[in-house]
Amino acid sequence: MTGFDEVEAARSDPKRANILYHDWEAETYDDKWSISYDQRCVDYARDRFTLATGEDDTAWPYGTALELGSGTGFFLLNLMQAGVAKQGVVTDISSKMVEVACRNADNLGLDVTGRVADAETIPCEDASVDLVVGHAVLHHIPDVEQAMREVLRVLKPGGRFVFAGEPSRIGDFYARHLGRLTWWATTTVTRLPFLSDWRRPQEELDESSAAAALEAVVDLHTFVPGELADLAESAGAVEVETSTEELTAAFLGWPVRTFEAAVPPGKLGFGWANFAAGAWKTLSKVDSGLSQVLPKDLFYNVLVTGRRSL
Ligand SMILES: C[S@@+](CC[C@H](N)C(=O)[O-])C[C@H]1O[C@@H](n2cnc3c(N)ncnc32)[C@H](O)[C@@H]1O
Repeated sequence: MTGFDEVEAARSDPKRANILYHDWEAETYDDKWSISYDQRCVDYARDRFTLATGEDDTAWPYGTALELGSGTGFFLLNLMQAGVAKQGVVTDISSKMVEVACRNADNLGLDVTGRVADAETIPCEDASVDLVVGHAVLHHIPDVEQAMREVLRVLKPGGRFVFAGEPSRIGDFYARHLGRLTWWATTTVTRLPFLSDWRRPQEELDESSAAAALEAVVDLHTFVPGELADLAESAGAVEVETSTEELTAAFLGWPVRTFEAAVPPGKLGFGWANFAAGAWKTLSKVDSGLSQVLPKDLFYNVLVTGRRSL
C-alpha cells in the first residue's frame, strides 16, 4: 500500500490521487471487483451496451474502439469478446492499469493496444475512432465536459460513445451510507473474542481506511441523468440518451462488497460468492421491472450514450 505521506500529498490533487490509487490497485483489481473475461462478464458488458444504446449484434462490429479509464480492461475487452468491436485501444491515466489491461488482452488474443492517457487530453488524431467507451470513469475526471469534447473530437462523424457504471447523485448517497454502516458493524462485531477469526489484522484495517480516504479524493462527481445529458449536448454531442439501473441490487451490493473487504480474504468461500452473485442477479431483474414505474434518478448506475454529428 502507499504510505500515509503519499496519501496526504495526493489529497489536494485528484489526478495524482487517481494515479496513486489505481497504480496501487492494478494487480489486485480484477479479484477485488470479481472481474473476469468469461461469459458472465461478457454478458454483463454487452447488456450494459445494449441497455445504453438499444443496439443488438446486427449493429456490430464497430471498427476501432477506444476506452477511457480502462482500468484492467473489463469493459472494452469483454465488449470485444461479445463482438461489439474488432480493434481496441485501452487507455488510462494509471500506467499500471494499462499494463494489466494489455496483459489481459494478450491472454485473450484480442487485437488491442494500450496507452497511458488523461481523458481530458486524449492522444489520438481527430476523427480516428468509431466508438468510445468507458465504465466507472467519468466520475473521476475533474473536467467531464472537456473529456466529452475530446471524445467528440476523436470520434469519426456519426461515431458513438457509451459510458456506463457512473454513480447517480441519489444512489451514491445510499451506497455510501450503507457501506459505512456495514464497515462499522463488521469491524465492531469482530472485536468480540469468539469472532476474532473474522477480524483482519488492525494494520490491514488501517490501510483500508487510508485507501478509503483516498477513494474520497478520487471520486469527484455523482450524476443526475438529465444534467449529464445536458453536459454531453453542450460539449456538442447529438442523439444523447441516458438510462439508469440497479436499486435493490445496489442496496444489497454495497453492503456485500464492504463486508467482503472487512473480513480476512478467503474467509467467505465459494458458497458466499454464489449467494452474492445469485442474489444480485435476482434483484437486478426486480430493478428492471421497477425502472418502468420509478423515477430514473433513484437508481444507482447511470449510463449515457450519444454520437458525433455527421
Ligand atoms: C473505477 S476505475 C474503473 C476501471 C474500469 N473501467 C472498470 O470498470 O473496471 C476508474 C479508472 O479511471 C482511471 N482514471 C481516473 N481519472 C482518469 C483520467 N483523468 N483520465 C483517464 N483515466 C482516468 C483510473 O486510473 C481507473 O483505472
